[in-house]
Amino acid sequence: MSNETTREKPWTGRFTEPTDAFVEAFTASVEFDQRMYRQDIAGSIAHARMLAHVGVLSGQERDAIIAGLEEIRAEIERGEFPWSIALEDLHMNIEARLTGRIGVTGKKLHTGRSRNDQVATDIRLYLRDEIDAVCSELRRLQHGLLEVAEREAETIMPGFTHLQTAQPVTFGHHMMAWFEMLERDWQRLQDCRRRVNIMPLGAAALAGTSYPIDREFTARELGFDGIAENSLDAVSDRDFAIEFTAAAALLMTHLSRWSEELVLWSSSQFDFIDLGDSFCTGSSIMPQKKNPDVPELVRGKSGRVNGHLIALLTLMKAQPLAYNKDNQEDKEPLFDTIDTLKGCLKVYADMIPNMHVKRDAMYEAARRGFSTATDLADYLVRKGVPFRDAHEVVGKAVRAGIESGRDLSEMHLEELRQFSDVIGEDVFDVLTLEGSVSARNHVGGTAPEQVRAAVVRARERLE
Ligand code: ARG
Repeated sequence: MSNETTREKPWTGRFTEPTDAFVEAFTASVEFDQRMYRQDIAGSIAHARMLAHVGVLSGQERDAIIAGLEEIRAEIERGEFPWSIALEDLHMNIEARLTGRIGVTGKKLHTGRSRNDQVATDIRLYLRDEIDAVCSELRRLQHGLLEVAEREAETIMPGFTHLQTAQPVTFGHHMMAWFEMLERDWQRLQDCRRRVNIMPLGAAALAGTSYPIDREFTARELGFDGIAENSLDAVSDRDFAIEFTAAAALLMTHLSRWSEELVLWSSSQFDFIDLGDSFCTGSSIMPQKKNPDVPELVRGKSGRVNGHLIALLTLMKAQPLAYNKDNQEDKEPLFDTIDTLKGCLKVYADMIPNMHVKRDAMYEAARRGFSTATDLADYLVRKGVPFRDAHEVVGKAVRAGIESGRDLSEMHLEELRQFSDVIGEDVFDVLTLEGSVSARNHVGGTAPEQVRAAVVRARERLE
């Protein structure tokens, strides 16, 4: 990137001394805002069309501007655009290049517009596209989860509370819990998109413009759902970026929670899953290691997105109306949030459907933790024992099981009857893991039949 100060800044008219070299670099944003070049050019083309539509530009001027901007876009895409720090930001770089290419007509593009409404428009267009990209990656991950849930509808694992074995659940049911979290994330992003897709253009610097502009025309050209009502708010509002980052932070929190589970499950202590060699890495010193780096890194990256949310909230909290240069600081947190989120979703969407589920190990773990104790209590209640007494009876049976190293289902009928004489041969139907999960056969329950039905409903919701 060059910083030849000889190139004319568009605002030097009232200045007598050149900008300090360090200040020039300190105030520049071109290094990070150039990624919005496509949106900036699309916004400028729509603005030029509108200016011609209302008679501020001639048809010839409009066409020259559009052709020049399209050439510049191609030049950027070829990697040949001479970005300059002296020209501060993306907007002035492109405008100066346009004038360099098409001459004096280029200087008319900025009529009735300011960088303040221009940059707010660019960010919204950029974020709108990125929300769509994030949401399609999210959908891909959701489809992957449904595949696993369907395949593992009957796979039994221990369900946990306090990370202690609680009751048996099906692995498919566990996957569907993750699906629900993601579905709420998707809804939140869609809701956020509606407020992102509002056009600030026309607000100019802060007060609007004296040219006879047609904002509806520009909004239609750019595919906005509506136009910002108030010019002061239009140039200074960054709520949409905060909302997106908040939705992203929650999504990352979800991914981080799953990551924690995947890391635990990959350990030899749990041994529930194998993430596959292509999603793990080795240790440079311990030859036996296969580390779940992907979920660990995703768990770690949730920290930076939470940080960006706090950065943006803090950025805005003391800003008087309308635009302030502070707002230039919105971009890096927002862009990094987008990049992080897309990366994490991509790697999860690739990894989840391919993880190997160790059904036998899960089953063994469920068998070990007295996970059907509640089923025994419910059985006693059905035989007329008050629940509190049943709880006490089962507690004693569990203690006997711990002492003799056996699960409830491994005790003989006569042994079990020592704790309560209402217990009969049919108790073994509820003490088995299969009996326990299939008894929870209602909408939202863990029974295999319910998991399959939930998958069907989920597929319909995705359509
Ligand atoms: N680079 C600036 C930003 O990102 C563009 C708007 C500058 N406007 C101004 N009045 N200095 O916010």
